[in-house]
Amino acid sequence: MNLQDNNEGQINRQKFVLMAAGGIGLLYAAAIGYPVYRYLESPIEKAEGATQVTEVTLPDAARLPLGAVLMFKFGSRPAMLIHHKDDTWVALDAVCTHLGCTVQYETARNRIFCACHGGVYDARTGANVSGPPPKPLKRLYPRVTDSGVIVSRTQQLS
Ligand code: FES
Repeated sequence: MNLQDNNEGQINRQKFVLMAAGGIGLLYAAAIGYPVYRYLESPIEKAEGATQVTEVTLPDAARLPLGAVLMFKFGSRPAMLIHHKDDTWVALDAVCTHLGCTVQYETARNRIFCACHGGVYDARTGANVSGPPPKPLKRLYPRVTDSGVIVSRTQQLS
């Protein structure tokens, strides 16, 4: 074994170490990148699913007691139908505008609350009232018919 063989052996070991480090780096990137990709992709998929639905019929919702809420799916998104104590109906998208948690209607306080970070919304308008949510909840448009409560994406002119 001469000096040149020794140098080539050292260079091959260095190449191997670099390739192994590169492979491990790729595995780390995949392990971190895939969940991030799924997190970012998920709202887009949900939005696409939601845009395909323009109207949902809730056959039994007309019997909802005063002051009660019905959670339902509008396309792939959670939504809520509130039957207020004054017999008015409000339907809202139930995805918090902060980081996407599902919000809940609190009957006793007549407000919509997001338990993830304490966001509060107005139960009649969906307006963001306090906490981190940057925007109101998206409004949907309910109307009571003989076949149930029909919730639409846009306001229907009668
Ligand atoms: S996700 Fe609702 S307040 Fe943060």
